[in-house]
Amino acid sequence: MTEYSKEDPSSIQAMFGSIAKRYDKANAILSLQMHKHWNAKLVKAVSQGEITSFLDLCCGTGDIAFELLKQQHHPRRAFLLDFCPEMLACAKEKAKLFRLDHHFVTYIQGDAQAVPLDDASVSCITIAYGIRNVNQPRQCIKEAFRLLQPGGVFGILELTQPKNSFLRMGHQIYLKAVLPLLGRWLTSNEQAYQYLCNSIHSFIPPDELENLMKHEGFTSTHRHSLCGGIATIITGRKP
Ligand SMILES: C[S@@+](CC[C@H](N)C(=O)[O-])C[C@H]1O[C@@H](n2cnc3c(N)ncnc32)[C@H](O)[C@@H]1O
Repeated sequence: MTEYSKEDPSSIQAMFGSIAKRYDKANAILSLQMHKHWNAKLVKAVSQGEITSFLDLCCGTGDIAFELLKQQHHPRRAFLLDFCPEMLACAKEKAKLFRLDHHFVTYIQGDAQAVPLDDASVSCITIAYGIRNVNQPRQCIKEAFRLLQPGGVFGILELTQPKNSFLRMGHQIYLKAVLPLLGRWLTSNEQAYQYLCNSIHSFIPPDELENLMKHEGFTSTHRHSLCGGIATIITGRKP
C-alpha cells in the first residue's frame, strides 16, 4: 500500500501525478460542483484592485488561473506553478479551451516554498487547495510575501473542518467513509483520497492560518467561511 506523506514531498508529487488526468472529473463529483463556486469566490476576493501580474501556486490543472485570466481584458502576465509535471501538462492542455492568447502565460515546475521568481514580481498570488499539501505552509506564506509587490494581494482557498458539531459529524462521515470509496471508483487510487481526508483533519485551523499570514507581515487580512466551514478563503495584503 502506498503511503502518502507531506514529509515526503516526492510521494505527494507522485500521488498527484497518478490522478492528474482524472483530477477535474473527480473534483467535480466529489465536491458536488461546489468547488466552482468557491473558486469564483476566491477570484472575486483577490480581484478587488487591478491585477497586473499574477501567480497561481499549486496550480494543478489551472482552474483558478484561467478563471482569473478570463476576466482580464488587458494583457496580463501570469505564472502557473506546480511541482507535478502531469498536472502542468493538463493545465497546458486546458488553456487551449480559453481565449488567452493576449496574455503572457508561463508554466513553472517548481516548489511553492522556493519559487524561482524575483522579489516583488507579481501583484496577486493565489493558492487553492494547495497549502494543506505543502510540507511547510509557513515557508509558502513567507515566499508569497517576498514575491508580492507592495499593495499586492494573497488569497488562500483551502478545505477546512466545519465548527458546528452536527455539520462536523456529517463532514467526517463523508471524508472517512464515502470519499475514499468514491475516489477509488473515480481514480483507482483510494489511498490518494484517504490522504485527502487525513490532510484536512491534520491541517491547522483557518484562524491559525490567518495568524501565520499576519505573522509573516500581511495586513488587512480577511477570513471567509464557505458552506459552513467546509472551505475557507483567507486574503491579506502586503503593505
Ligand atoms: C489539490 S491540488 C489543487 C490544484 C488546483 N489549485 C485546483 O484549484 O484544483 C494540489 C496541487 O498542489 C500541488 N503541490 C503540492 N505541494 C506542492 C509544492 N510544495 N509545490 C508546488 N506544488 C505543490 C500538487 O501537485 C497539486 O497539483
